[in-house]
Amino acid sequence: MNIVVVGTQWGDEGKGRVIDLLARKVDAVVRYQGGSNAGHTVVVDGEKFVFHLIPSGILHPGKKAIIANGVVIDPEQLLKEIKDLKERGIPVEKNLYISANAHVVMPYHKDVEKWEESLRGKGKIGTTGRGIGPAYVDKVARRGIRMGDLLERKTLEEKLNLNLKIYGNLLGFSYSKEEILEKFLEFGKKLKKYITDTSLLIYRLMEEGKDILFEGAQGTLLDIDHGTYPYVTSSNASAAGVCTGCGVSPRSITKVIGVAKAYTTRVGEGPFPTELKDEIGTLLQERGNEYGATTGRPRRCGWFDGVALRYATRINGLDELILTKLDILDKLDKVKICVAYRYKGKVIQDFPNRFVMWRECEPVYEEMDGWKEDTSKVTSYKDLPDAARKYIKKIEEIGKVPIRLLSVGPQREEMFTAP
Ligand code: GDP
Ligand code: IMO
Ligand code: MG
Repeated sequence: MNIVVVGTQWGDEGKGRVIDLLARKVDAVVRYQGGSNAGHTVVVDGEKFVFHLIPSGILHPGKKAIIANGVVIDPEQLLKEIKDLKERGIPVEKNLYISANAHVVMPYHKDVEKWEESLRGKGKIGTTGRGIGPAYVDKVARRGIRMGDLLERKTLEEKLNLNLKIYGNLLGFSYSKEEILEKFLEFGKKLKKYITDTSLLIYRLMEEGKDILFEGAQGTLLDIDHGTYPYVTSSNASAAGVCTGCGVSPRSITKVIGVAKAYTTRVGEGPFPTELKDEIGTLLQERGNEYGATTGRPRRCGWFDGVALRYATRINGLDELILTKLDILDKLDKVKICVAYRYKGKVIQDFPNRFVMWRECEPVYEEMDGWKEDTSKVTSYKDLPDAARKYIKKIEEIGKVPIRLLSVGPQREEMFTAP
């Protein structure tokens, strides 16, 4: 089986903990896009791990952890992550593989991003500041530096010459080429043992009939093409990103699993039709501990958006859904699900595809009774309160996707099957 796990909202759906759970049954976990903008949390026996670049399956001994070509890598951050994990007893060295074709996030990417955000002023994207957008810009502009280039002084120097001219002459940034060159060659030396042809590696694993999990970062609504552009990230976070991001054929994908939170959150700016700016929003933020795993920024919170889920089902071809954080809704008298939008007085069922529409859309809600019971100790679907089961059924119906697993706490075992 070659399974894709993809976020169906604006990120932070709980993909990390889902990957950690599913990784038990596969041979390799592959990150296919994004970079250290991602923050994937896994909690095992009360111990918390937050992964930014390394696939969330690394905690399972003997499983390959592959960072494929579609990812943009900040080598310093990656080395830090490797070091931290090693210090915590995780044998990273045995299992990590990095694509020679993954692009490198360079110091000028972070600087130019900061500058551009300041130019945008009020219209800023609210990025994670990790240099992700500019790194992908250079990739598309065919001047990007790839991980494999860090192993060849001449190539790296030539590429740096061009890039520093562009960033210097065009944008007015000035850097010491020698300093960057030596620093990044050093990163190359340290990472050399992991750098390989990951497309071929994955192909060979598939030939041997091994099971592979593809780990999405961000979420469908942050996808560069299909998200709420321009308030998106700079890669294809949706399932389609796997093929280009890993060099695998669309035919090889056997299953696509979506992950959704039982409500909605968003970090950074941009349209968010079901956002709650009242005490319920605050309650979700506090109970859900909704602060960014990468930047620590408070996440905006709102009701579950069924229209957006239906869109994610369509864009990704979801076979099934995993619903997380149901426990966070335990205290509410009433819960609401957005079942349609109202735009210029008309009710629309489909997720709009234009910026002005997202901005002006109003959610049409279906209100349901809350369950007002503690679900955090529940271990099976049948033991959930009736009202919670109705809420889950409603999400399936509106989202047009069956829910297979539910979680009621961050720990590995706090997840059970839905009927
Ligand atoms: P990701 O980026 O999709 O991997 O998600 P994040 O790790 O950024 O955010 C999810 C947060 O919710 C993490 O702090 C998880 O530990 C936590 N979490 C995940 N599932 C549950 C759950 O079912 N209940 C509770 N209370 N917390 C959860
Ligand atoms: P995970 O994988 C939530 C958001 C940023 C910003 C926009 C663009 O943990 O779900 P970027 O730095 O990517 O150029 O920022 O995307 N963003 C995320 N939001 N979870 C993430 O990752 C995110 N990665 C980027 O907040 O709005
Ligand atoms: Mg996250």
